[in-house]
Amino acid sequence: MTGKAIPGLSLADQPPDYEALVAWWAHMREFAPVHYDEKLGYWHVFRYEDAATILNDHTAFSSDMRDLIPQPEQFATVAKGAFLGFDPPQHKKLRNLVSKAFTPRVTAELEPRIEKIAEELLDAMGGSEKIELIDQLAYPLPLTVIVELLEIPAVDRFRFKKWSNALFFQGRTDEPVIVATPEMLQSIEPAIGEMNGYFLDIIRKRRSRPGTDLISKLATVESNGERLADEEILGVCGFLLVAGHITTTMMLSNAVLLLGDHPEHTATLRAAPSAVPAAVEEVLRYRGQLPAAPRRTRQRTNLHGVSIPPDEIVLVWLTSANLDERYFPTADRFDIARTPNHHLALGRGIHYCLGAPLARLELRIALRAMLRRWSGFTVGEGVRLEDPRHTIGAKELPLHVRWEDESPTL
Ligand code: HEM
Repeated sequence: MTGKAIPGLSLADQPPDYEALVAWWAHMREFAPVHYDEKLGYWHVFRYEDAATILNDHTAFSSDMRDLIPQPEQFATVAKGAFLGFDPPQHKKLRNLVSKAFTPRVTAELEPRIEKIAEELLDAMGGSEKIELIDQLAYPLPLTVIVELLEIPAVDRFRFKKWSNALFFQGRTDEPVIVATPEMLQSIEPAIGEMNGYFLDIIRKRRSRPGTDLISKLATVESNGERLADEEILGVCGFLLVAGHITTTMMLSNAVLLLGDHPEHTATLRAAPSAVPAAVEEVLRYRGQLPAAPRRTRQRTNLHGVSIPPDEIVLVWLTSANLDERYFPTADRFDIARTPNHHLALGRGIHYCLGAPLARLELRIALRAMLRRWSGFTVGEGVRLEDPRHTIGAKELPLHVRWEDESPTL
């Protein structure tokens, strides 16, 4: 993270550097809060109030881009259940049905199991002083949870990484492209085709012999005489697999990076674990994982005197909105006791993150377990970050750890 000057107003001019993006967001919030990016051909929105307005107005700002960005066959199949990309009434039907199967209670009941998985992963580190957080905790924890929730064979895990990376990154490599192009979607067709075949087979088996897992619940759930079709369940599974772990992995890495920079906060949280939930909210606000949520205009709309025509793509910069000093006092300060903290890291409006209770639970459990088991940690050499123009978090996060048993005092 070096933080260079802003070379131009286009996202395409910004280097893949988090500090540089923070500077660009601040500049744009001040001077060009609603901006048409000529190089990329879409609009950017940077301030909190505008971002919240857009997310709350699903009529003017739709999430359905299917006619703007043609989808190849396999991607279109899995997209049938990815209701993040739908508007009402289709969105409402799917979200209602999925919410009946994936309830906050289902999540709450997972708590002891998530605690056990976190403890087992920490045990498996064998008291080592050097660990790699992503491989050893941040990735396997949420992946294990979602795999168990869907009750898919653990031996197949190695394939999920390929599929979920394909779905999450959608063929983007090092371009600053947030909305994937048809060519990028084409490049992931083989991986998506493999995933579709895998899940459709499981879904058909669960339909004939339902169990207690989430796929069986999705296969049998009913509301107002409506049920989910196989391809819709496939889309939900694909989306949950991706949303269910990559996001949480990144957020956990962001939490550890921030606490590594703020040992005073780490000490506070170790002394008072009840402060962890507020700290998790502040990590979400201060360094959310998902930089932007895309929308498309359905009608001509005015924001700050700027007129946006219909059928344009608008990127709502959640991470910029969350750092907006017009809304959050001392927005640039990482304040683990911040209250209120109505950040947009988990969205707003009808598409508000359905997995928010699970994401919060996993982050709280993981942080509490690390703080309990470690008497101290520092971030090591060789941290590798994702391209923050797509996603904010670490790919590799080496840590030097002191274990509580070996070194009871800091
Ligand atoms: C900390 C981790 C997470 C973050 C930062 C996050 C962020 C978000 C955001 C910003 C949205 C709204 C996007 C938009 O409006 O365009 C969203 C939607 C969604 N998320 Fe999450 N998410 C996280 C974890 C999860 C988990 C663990 C699950 C499920 C297991 C999940 C499932 C979903 C679903 C299904 C939607 C779509 C909701 C809808 O369209 O109605 N997310 N998430």
